Amino acid sequence: MLFEQIAIGGNRNFAYLFGDADAGVAAAVDVGYSPEVILDRCVDMGLELTHIFATHSHYDHVDAVPALRAATGAVFVAYRTVPDIDLPLDDGDVVRVGSITVRAIHCPGHSPDSIALLLNDAKLISGDELFVGKIGGTAHESSARQQYHSLHQKLMTLDDAVEVWPGHDFGVSSHSTIGAERAGNPFLTQPDFDAFWHLKKNWNDYKREHGIK
Ligand SMILES: [Fe+2]
Repeated sequence: MLFEQIAIGGNRNFAYLFGDADAGVAAAVDVGYSPEVILDRCVDMGLELTHIFATHSHYDHVDAVPALRAATGAVFVAYRTVPDIDLPLDDGDVVRVGSITVRAIHCPGHSPDSIALLLNDAKLISGDELFVGKIGGTAHESSARQQYHSLHQKLMTLDDAVEVWPGHDFGVSSHSTIGAERAGNPFLTQPDFDAFWHLKKNWNDYKREHGIK
């Protein structure tokens, strides 16, 4: 599987491009504001872009989708409530890109339409739900409760060896693993929701005390 993490601009957003060279096809994820960057990479690699995925509908992840779709004819794939999609996904749905399997994991919290994408049971594109050593923001206590559930009941059920590829370059490194996050992400080591919620509310203090940028 070809796989690239692309610093696409915005607020240190990461886009992803993955593909099957034998089949000559590729898919992009969270294309941000820069359709030409994705197009150029597809041309360089000699791959046809067939799918454009989004982990959620926030504009910094989907702004370039219409331009990219118009330029390539690729289908736009996201959670079923996201506007203007060609292929709606529900939890557990699988899409094939050449020989690559892409499983959607609905993980609401950061947004109601958040999904993570599991490629070949090995790489998790986690969007803004899970960052390296951090997690995505939530608007209210109710969405934080959803996020707590999504993190523990969905993402943390994956094998330790699964790689984590986040939606923003906010962590100490550009990617991680489920095992490393399970062991070291402070939001995932809290014993219950109340402690998790307390950490979310006091994150700036925690970062200062622990030298986290
Ligand atoms: Fe977001």
